[in-house]
Order: sequence, then structure tokens, then C-alpha cells
Amino acid sequence: MGKIILTGDRPTGRLHLGHFVGSLRRRVELQNSGLFDKIFIMIADAQALTDNADNPEKIRQNIIEVALDYLACGIDPTKSTIFIQSQVAELCELAFYYMNLVTVSRLQRNPTVKTEIQMRNFETSIPVGFFTYPISQASDITAFRATTVPAGEDQQPMIEQAREIVRRFNGIYGDTLVEPEILLPDNAACMRLPGTDGKAKMSKSLGNCIYLSDTSEEVRKRVMSMYTDPDHIRVEDPGKVEGNTVFTYLDAFCRPEHFAQYWPDYSSLDELKAHYMRGGLGDVKVKKFLYAILEELLTPIRERRKEWEKDIPAVFDILKRGSEAAREVAASTLADVRRAMRIDYFDDAELIAEQSRKFQG
Ligand code: TRP
Repeated sequence: MGKIILTGDRPTGRLHLGHFVGSLRRRVELQNSGLFDKIFIMIADAQALTDNADNPEKIRQNIIEVALDYLACGIDPTKSTIFIQSQVAELCELAFYYMNLVTVSRLQRNPTVKTEIQMRNFETSIPVGFFTYPISQASDITAFRATTVPAGEDQQPMIEQAREIVRRFNGIYGDTLVEPEILLPDNAACMRLPGTDGKAKMSKSLGNCIYLSDTSEEVRKRVMSMYTDPDHIRVEDPGKVEGNTVFTYLDAFCRPEHFAQYWPDYSSLDELKAHYMRGGLGDVKVKKFLYAILEELLTPIRERRKEWEKDIPAVFDILKRGSEAAREVAASTLADVRRAMRIDYFDDAELIAEQSRKFQG
């Protein structure tokens, strides 16, 4: 059987560099690798609503932003199916059956859900839909018979949960669902790109993001005000590269050829780091180098976005056709699930015959 990818994002805002290193960059590579038979990329609006029930307008507005970011990064609608989660009703029905295979205590142990509950101050008022979203995510993945889920490490507990559901389902009802695997980013710095202020994660509320659609000037400002080593006060002072955001970003984005192009004084990142640690290298120079690298990356993304922005109806059309195609696949998995659970009563000639015999005595 072929290899199939499913992955997605919640449409709660424009996508940023954290999304890019954590998943987008990889998705485009995987899409163009030709190693996968099918690729599904989902805009997870229904999941986003699990903690935004009172603000559906935010989700509604951001669907197109996320779609534009996908297209800008090089997701190609002729190679990948981009769709909107809420337009595939079959996913809800799958989740409804999977709910019977998961215990409350298992959900309570999910570390990603735990942190999210803390971050949102839900404490005792956790919406049930939010609490159970790992189950809904298992539906997203299994509906498309995905073998591979490229995602950041924060998604690991979700994939583990999905795998447990698959094993439980197949154990009870017979081999029906495909057990997915997570595909983590390959570069350690990419696992979790910190915010420009050095805080653990990029987040809109902290204002520490560099968005893929930011202008050159916005990117420059963010880079120039980036958190570095607070003890590196004078140029001569030795500096630390660990926990220094500029160097973390260089770990994620710098390639050896960038030196020849933008900073021929050095030939590798190790050499640059060594100089910084010895002392005698100022932050501004390093920041300018990072800015040049980011601009090289972001300029074509920005330009492609501008092109798609000129034809928004075409983007909605891509989403509509993608959702229709996704729905067909999900419907076929759902039919398998119903058959395996033997709740496909009206197609079950055996059931009808058996019940007739029973009542005719
Ligand atoms: N949980 C993901 C996020 O927060 C979005 C998502 C929903 C997803 N369903 C998925 C990711 C299935 C991978 C596979 O961004």
C-alpha cells in the first residue's frame, strides 16, 4: 500500500517562521520528493473552534490567510489536496465512534492538552470539544489512511493517541485502519523555534513572531531587536551562543553557502560561533547576517503570496475542490469503519436473513 501524508494547521492567525521550520518547509520537500502517493493538507478550523467557540469570526478570517501562506510556501494544489476540516462531515462521525475507545484518564494524561489547558487558564472550565480534540485529530489522520504525519514534536502525543485508537479499533473490529507515524523535523533547532524575544515559542499574543507575510521592514525590525546574550554588553566581551536567539535562528536557517554570499569573513557557523564566544564580535553584525538569510528565504514567498492575493476567488475554489476530494476519501474510510463495526445494517444481507429466521421460528 502507498504512502500517504496528512497534516494541517489551526487557522488562528497567519503562519510564521516557527510553522515554516516546524512543518511547512518539510511539507514542500515531501510534496516534491515524489515519494508519496497522496498528500492532504488540512486547515483545521473545527479544531480551532474547540477553544474559540465565542470567536468564530477569527477562524473565518484566517482560513484564507493560512491557505495563502501554504500556496506562498510552495504547496502545489495539483500535487497536494488542501481542504477545510469542517467541510468533511465524515470526520465527526469517525470521532464519535473513536470516543468509545478512549478513556477520560488517558486524555487527561496527554501532555500537549495539559499544557494547552494551563496556557488558556481553562482549569475547571475545559470545553469538552477541546478536551477531546486528540480523538478528533485521530479521525483526521485515519480518515485519509495516512501513513505519515509530518509535524512538530508537540504533536507527538496526538500521533501516539491516534496509534492507540487504531490498534484498539483494529483489535476489536478487525484490520481496518492504518497506524500513522510522525515525521519530525530533521534539524534539532527546528524542533521548536523560539520567539524573537527568546521565549520558548512564537506566539501572536507575545508579539514575538516573524510572519511569512511580514514586509522586509517588519522582518528587519524584529531581527534587529532580537534577544541575544544579555551579558554580551561590549563588542570585546565574550558572548554565549546557547540561548542566544540569533544563533538559534542561524542554526535553523543558515547554510554553508550563505557565508560565501553574505559574509565571506567566515566559512562556517562553527567558526562564527567561536569568534562570538571569544569576544570581539558585535550583535549587530550577526543580526545583519541573519536578516540577509531570512530575506533570501522570505522574498520569493512574499512574491508568490502577492500573486495569489490578486485572485482570492481562485484560492477559495482550490479549497472547495480540495474539500470535495477529501470528503470522498473520508467517506470511503467511514464506509469501511461502519462495515467493520457491523453497523452497516441496510447493506448487511446476512443480518436481515438471520433476523428473519429468528422471528419466523
Ligand atoms: N493540532 C494541529 C495544530 O495544532 C492541527 C491538526 C489538526 C493536525 N488535525 C491534525 C495536525 C492532523 C496533523 C494531523 O496545529
